[in-house]
Amino acid sequence: MVADLITMDDLTNEQINTLLNNAEKLLPAAKGDEYLPLLEGKLLGNMFFEPSTRTRMSFETAMKRLGGNVVNLGALASSSVTKGETLFDTMKMVDGYCDVAVLRHPRQGAAQYAADACAIPILNGGDGAGHHPTQTLLDLFTIRQAHGRLDLNVVMVGDLRYGRTVHSLSHALARFGANLTFIAPPTLSMPEEIIQDLEEGGANITVSEDLISNLQTADVIYMTRIQKERFPDEDEYQKVAGIYKLARNDLRDVKESMILMHPLPRVDEIHPNVDDTPHAAYFDQAFNGVVARMALLCHLFDVAIPGGE
Ligand code: CP
Repeated sequence: MVADLITMDDLTNEQINTLLNNAEKLLPAAKGDEYLPLLEGKLLGNMFFEPSTRTRMSFETAMKRLGGNVVNLGALASSSVTKGETLFDTMKMVDGYCDVAVLRHPRQGAAQYAADACAIPILNGGDGAGHHPTQTLLDLFTIRQAHGRLDLNVVMVGDLRYGRTVHSLSHALARFGANLTFIAPPTLSMPEEIIQDLEEGGANITVSEDLISNLQTADVIYMTRIQKERFPDEDEYQKVAGIYKLARNDLRDVKESMILMHPLPRVDEIHPNVDDTPHAAYFDQAFNGVVARMALLCHLFDVAIPGGE
């Protein structure tokens, strides 16, 4: 059992496989077709210091579908953060109020800092340009649902420098034998220390700036948004804004089984005319956040899932 989930290194491959198998069993409950009050009496604290739609709402949905409950920090403007309360003190409060907490914070390392301050499990809901491990669980679930395995050709595109989703996902996929292609402009390339770490672990990595020539061999294309909010300077953002875009026509020669993923929100990376192609997986991917987080919460509370492992 894991105490906190800060990076994917907190989970073994065996635990990841069990979570993905259990997530499958929880699909009817995640869809509301079955009521499964496995977490009745449990309370989750949603502590979001940065905007979120999917992570915050899917954790809330996961808890409530399982009969648990949720308290939210709410808008920062109406919290005591505006009075200067520190992250440490704020997390000490939720440690007393809740049984588990999700933290999203703009500062890399904030989730580990919170975990050190709290006795309850802390789940990293995204720490700056660091990690986003619960997103990785739903990403792995989506890939496995489509392809039945994870040792695939996966192309990651866009903001690989500041993109916490691709940092966590690349580590996990490398452990499961995927071939990874990183496509970004030089200013947004995957950090060298991450590439070195992956290569030391035996991963097969290709680095390129060209998206179109890498489409045909891909089993998964993982697009990401160029994150304006992470740039220290607006001019630097403008130089790369809109650099990678895919529309329906670009997908003419891709593998029939290729899935196009995106952690969302998208800006202009994927044209809406892709949405009704068989390749578009991003809305299912977002839904899978519920089922993956349900499986994780059951694991944290050591609750047996009917038919699960
Ligand atoms: N994918 C993701 O983290 O989305 P949100 O920022 O809306 O939570």
